[in-house]
Amino acid sequence: MRTLVTGGAGYVGSVCVERLLAEGHAVTVLDDLSVGHRAAVAPGAQFCEGNIGDPALLDALMTKARPEVVLHFAGSALVGESMEDPFKYFQNNTSNGITLLKAAEAAKVGKFIFSSTCAVYGEPETVPITETAPCQPVNPYGASKLMMEQTMEWQAQATGMECVALRYFNAAGASKQFGEHHRHETHIIPCLLQTALGQRETFSLFGTNHPTSDGTCIRDYIHVSDLAAAHALALRPGISGPFNLGRGHGDSVREVLTACREVTGHAIPVEEQPARPGDPPELVADVTKASAELGWQAAHTEIRTIVETAWLWHQRFPQGYPA
Ligand SMILES: NC(=O)c1ccc[n+]([C@@H]2O[C@H](COP(=O)([O-])OP(=O)(O)OC[C@H]3O[C@@H](n4cnc5c(N)ncnc54)[C@H](O)[C@@H]3O)[C@@H](O)[C@H]2O)c1
Repeated sequence: MRTLVTGGAGYVGSVCVERLLAEGHAVTVLDDLSVGHRAAVAPGAQFCEGNIGDPALLDALMTKARPEVVLHFAGSALVGESMEDPFKYFQNNTSNGITLLKAAEAAKVGKFIFSSTCAVYGEPETVPITETAPCQPVNPYGASKLMMEQTMEWQAQATGMECVALRYFNAAGASKQFGEHHRHETHIIPCLLQTALGQRETFSLFGTNHPTSDGTCIRDYIHVSDLAAAHALALRPGISGPFNLGRGHGDSVREVLTACREVTGHAIPVEEQPARPGDPPELVADVTKASAELGWQAAHTEIRTIVETAWLWHQRFPQGYPA
């Protein structure tokens, strides 16, 4: 298939591009490199540097690449930043997303696959979380993603375009070639591994009094290659709607810390900090729907294996991607 991948120079997008190419799809990547890396785009893909909010550029690109499917990873994805600068999130994730959706619609693209997030659920009443749980985001990041999902749903009803919202839980791990390199890193596993590499003095652990077995937050870490596999399955005709993507079980921050210490053989000093406001104690996916309808399940089931793949990548590329 001919695919257009926005955000393909970012973490999840780069691994998905690698997978699409391996499956024989034609891939054009659109990324403004605001936080992504040119070196993260696999050589087999066409690359266009530009913004998803630029209608003229989108029209030209749709004409040239003639995508049958758009996979939309581009976005702003820092919860803390979204609390300080909500406009940035509604502009980039909702408004620019709609510009892209409109261009796809005008170009008669049959399918639109969107990188959504478990942040659309907010603080869930019950865990594991199903797709039918109430969506009550507690930060502009989650709200901006939910508004994009809602726009897609109405647009799908109006036009018949197949729209899929893949709600990732916590992406983690790496392929051999592509991994997680954010210039401003906030994700737990890269922060822990950077501490093991001596690039940070300590790891900041936020919140030790949560109502969980060891007092730290529990999250559902999903391997980035498993996310890529779900996207490949979602390309099939007839697949639409929201899907949770996680392993269906969680690990506490202390469990992730232990896995990182074991895998790296490094003590990884920790500095305990107060809990961050609005950090739910436990976010774990119910993945029954993805299993039944996509025929998908996570191949990487253990946090230790996920950390091993990330550690291999960080050792191979200790400074991440070249500038
Ligand atoms: N990483 C996770 O754990 C996670 C969890 C849930 C959802 N998501 C979502 O998945 C997507 C990918 O996440 P990621 O971790 O790979 O993020 P990332 O920041 O590594 O990648 C995002 C990419 O989008 C590009 N981009 C941003 N705005 C753009 C614009 N207006 N025009 C063109 N390119 C633009 C950036 O340059 C970057 O390459 C995001 O939409 C994010 O919200 C990620």
